Order: sequence, then C-alpha cells, then structure tokens
Amino acid sequence: MITYVVTGGAGFIGANFIHYLFKTYDDDVRVINIDCLTYAGNLHNLKACEAHPNYRFIKADICDSETLLKELKDESIDYFINFAAESHVDRSILGSGPFVQTNIVGTQRLLDLARTLDVKRYVQVSTDEVYGDLDETGFFVEDTPIQPNSPYSASKAAGDLLVRSYYETHKMPVVITRCSNNYGPYQFPEKLIPLMISNALEGKSLPIYGTGTNVRDWIYVEDHCRGVDMAARKGVLGTVYNFGGDSERTNLDVVKWILKSLDKPESLMEYVEDRKGHDFRYAIDFSKAKAELGWKPSVDFETGMERTIAWYLDNRSWWECIKSGDYQAYYEKMYGKKVGKLDE
Ligand code: NAD
Ligand code: TYD
Repeated sequence: MITYVVTGGAGFIGANFIHYLFKTYDDDVRVINIDCLTYAGNLHNLKACEAHPNYRFIKADICDSETLLKELKDESIDYFINFAAESHVDRSILGSGPFVQTNIVGTQRLLDLARTLDVKRYVQVSTDEVYGDLDETGFFVEDTPIQPNSPYSASKAAGDLLVRSYYETHKMPVVITRCSNNYGPYQFPEKLIPLMISNALEGKSLPIYGTGTNVRDWIYVEDHCRGVDMAARKGVLGTVYNFGGDSERTNLDVVKWILKSLDKPESLMEYVEDRKGHDFRYAIDFSKAKAELGWKPSVDFETGMERTIAWYLDNRSWWECIKSGDYQAYYEKMYGKKVGKLDE
C-alpha cells in the first residue's frame, strides 16, 4: 500500500489527481487530502471518492504546522504532493498577500513538516510561469532562468527556490514539476477556458484581454496528473521536470473554438483592457520528462476540449452554483472596470 498526501486536493488539479490515483491504483493506494477550502476548494469535486475506505480528508491550512503534525504524525507517508496554492494571476494583481502566505510561507511549512515526517518523496507542483514569458520563438527548458512577471508566478518561483534549497541543504528528497496551462473538469470558472465556456452558455460576453494574441500551451489535466505521479515515483531527486501539452494556441483561437463548438456567435467576444504585465507567450520543451520518465501528453487539444465542454454541459449546476455566490463580487471587481476600456 502506497500512501500519498495531497495538499490542495479539493481544487482543480488536486481533485483530478486524486481521481487519477484511485482510477489507476484503486486499493493499492491511500490518499490523505489536506485542504483549507478557500474559494477555489470544493468538496463536490471529490464526491466520488468520499466513500472509498482509503480516502481521508483533513480540513487544514498548509501554514498550520501544529495541526498538520498532530494529524499526520502516525502516518507512514510515501509521496507528499503539494498542489495547494493561490493560483489565479488576476487575483494576484488585485492583492498579493494571500499568494505570499500560501505559496511561499505555506511551502516552507510543508517542507519542514515533510522533513519531520521523513516522507519518501516531496513533490512541488509548480508552473511554467516561473520562467517569465517568451516572444514568438523558443521554448522553456528546465534551466531557463527564473524570471517571474506576476505576483502569482513570483510567489511560485520563491516556493520552488525554497524546495531546491532543502535539497541542497538538507538532502531532502524533492522533485519540482513545472507545467503549462491546464484545462479539464472541475476548473474554477475564473480561468480562461471554463469562464469562456460558462459565459457562452449563459449568453454573457466573453472578455478578451488586449488583442487576444497572447499564446498559451494547453494541456489536458489528466496528462499533467500522470506526469506528477511519474515524477514522484521515478524523478531524479533535486531536479525539475517540465510538462506541456504540445498545443500552443492564441487566446482568440481558443475562444473561437469554444464558440464554434457551442454554436454561439463570435459577437459574444468583447475586447477589454489588457491584464497588467500580461505574459505574451508560454511554450514548453518537455524532452527531459520524455527521456527520463517516459512521459508525453496523450490527449490532443481537440479531444481534450470536446471532453471538457461535454463536462461543463453535463455539470451545469456545479459551475452555476459557484457563479451565483461570492464569485459575483470578484467578477464585478475584476471585470467591471475593464469592460469598454479599449474603446475609450
Ligand atoms: P486551484 O486554485 O483550483 O486549487 C487550489 C487548492 O488549494 C484549493 O482547493 C484551495 O482550497 C487549496 N488551498 C489554497 N490555499 C491553501 C492553504 N493555505 N492551505 C490548504 N489548502 C489551500 O489551483 P489549481 O489550478 O488546481 O492548481 C494547483 C497547483 O498547480 C498550484 O500549485 C498551481 O500553481 C499549479 N499549476 C496550475 C496550473 C493551471 O493551469 N491551473 C498550471 C501549472 C501549475
Ligand atoms: P488564465 O486562464 O488566467 O491563465 P494564465 O494567466 O495563468 O495563463 O489566462 C489564460 C490567458 O487568457 C491569458 O493570456 C489571459 C487570457 N484571459 C482573457 O483574455 N480573458 C479572461 O477573462 C481571462 C480570465 C484570461
């Protein structure tokens, strides 16, 4: 029996990761999910696992070392995977405090905890955004200099540097993963793809920042989950693995694809004021993961998007419920001032 501790397991990628573990290993794994349930954490994402005898949920903040030590001290932990984070760039522009607290202080607390608990492997789930951005050419490799541009990516970069330092200083068994933009089921509708799908279904406008020509590399979330698991099990300690979807698209390409697939008019698109410090392009070279882990993405963009759109159509109450709550206040604060700015 292999025991995983997963932090942030009630969020988008963490929940998909837990589903992936039970689907792949069933009774051969135990999963302990630690999440404090911020606005982005949702236990509905894990309904299907709740009854599994090998699943345990602990509601706690990753900064709360005392509670975590009390809860985990008798566990024998193989893989400790840190997904917990404040994850949205736009929110980090509105206020960076929670990002510093969770993504930096929280990472430091988890590293100390994982050392005390003597875990077999600690995996830090990071992002390609720590590398900054690219112009039209080139790809991020694992030794591309760290040059984050947003408070979100700066806080993730700081977390990564702490993880690296615990390897160098304490010889702690760590691995860092850096992935491009994920999409798929359970993604909170503040991120591009679920926001555009749900707005289109509601007949609302689709806010395009700036000219819509910024480029992201999109990966289906289950491919990322498989990569994180492979990095935990087979990754070389103290090193970084990039994961990408081999699917670069401009934001306009993505939004037009969604509108076409839902049979909605392009007139729903609304160009709004650009994001401050908007990274132009992310693109990933994942040849190290391919060579060392035998990993490559298995779901192409069209297949992944078809699955994702089907999920949002089938789970309307999931996102309608989110969009009817506190989210509305965020949306008003974030987009209220942006709308119409380009035409002024
Ligand atoms: P998310 O915002 O959907 O989920 C984050 C989860 O962490 C939530 O369940 C939240 O409740 C929990 N959390 C936040 N602060 C916490 C705290 N202090 N203590 C305990 N739990 C806390 O994020 P996501 O999109 O699932 O991203 C997961 C991880 O993957 C993050 O570390 C992110 O930086 C990284 N990542 C995300 C993407 C992407 O495209 N979404 C790409 C690459 C890397
Ligand atoms: P996002 O999903 O926030 O991910 P990230 O900024 O971490 O890459 O945004 C993806 C791209 O979509 C990014 O270039 C910003 C753009 N975007 C919009 O044009 N409109 C929106 O309403 C949002 C949320 C994002």
